[in-house]
Amino acid sequence: MRSLLFVPGDSPKKLQKGLESGADALILDLEDSVALDAKPQARELTRDFLKETGALARRPRLIVRVNALSTGLTEADLDAIMPGAPDAIMLPKAEGGPDLTHLAAQIAVREAECDLADGATRIIAIATETGKGIFALGSYAGASHRLEALTWGAEDLSADLGAETNRLEDGSYADPYRMARSLTLFAAAAAQVDAIDSVFTAFRDSEGLRSECLAGRRDGFTGKMAIHPAQVAVINEVFSPSPEALARAEVIIALFDANPGLGVIGLDGEMLDRPHLMRARRLKARADKLG
Ligand code: COA
Ligand code: MG
Repeated sequence: MRSLLFVPGDSPKKLQKGLESGADALILDLEDSVALDAKPQARELTRDFLKETGALARRPRLIVRVNALSTGLTEADLDAIMPGAPDAIMLPKAEGGPDLTHLAAQIAVREAECDLADGATRIIAIATETGKGIFALGSYAGASHRLEALTWGAEDLSADLGAETNRLEDGSYADPYRMARSLTLFAAAAAQVDAIDSVFTAFRDSEGLRSECLAGRRDGFTGKMAIHPAQVAVINEVFSPSPEALARAEVIIALFDANPGLGVIGLDGEMLDRPHLMRARRLKARADKLG
């Protein structure tokens, strides 16, 4: 998944627009973008949208962001939306492996009740929204086979920290958020799942978005969340492996295949060894998945 577009779950208009956005995934939101009074109605609307859209031949992946476990709303969210068979549940304010197994158990019960295959519903955790979550980042590895990806958030983290802002005047992240971002990459690598980059909230600033996407790709994120349909094309473009990068990866793979006895090979004046081969294989796998 390159682009994951947030769509408030209480807005029929935005749900429809989301479908036409070209995003690889929609995150149907029941959490922060939906007011408390609107949650019951958002759950119904989201379930109906899942049912209708799930039946389409070509569709984005459908992810539902439920309310955090600490709110006491999560189970009612799941009761309402699991009959719609979402592809994944996004858990906000996640605080490590125990939260993951807790949610996985709640999902498993509803899969059984709704006649869905056991384990079909994956989980994506937003893993850095609280100070406690930061300290639990190492505990996702091995906690649940449902975990599909980790992502991070700077908005709620700044609220938890009591910070005035999370960005410097030049637009770059302040230190605590740079650290949260890096730790997310390490946690995802440790858990062997994808790392998805956080949202860029200035949705009219496409150059700012592009440079953040490029930095994300450089550092190992495989995609980025979006809050506005206009952000989808930029994200898809940057996170699609370029033909040049794919061609080079194929050359590297072919070179090692042709020389199984060699650990290190020179190509165009550059040393290639195992990490380069692994990088090439990952890029090729991502390109193959995108077709
Ligand atoms: N998904 C689907 N459609 C969206 C959308 C989204 N995330 N954001 C905007 N649109 C639609 C608008 O409804 C509008 O439709 P229209 O042309 O038919 O009126 C069109 O795209 C253009 O929107 P625009 O006028 O530029 O923005 P806005 O002021 O209507 O909306 C936000 C701005 C921020 C409120 C809106 O982008 C949004 O709701 N984003 C998602 C927020 C969210 O889910 N946050 C939680 C995660 S951080
Ligand atoms: Mg939030």
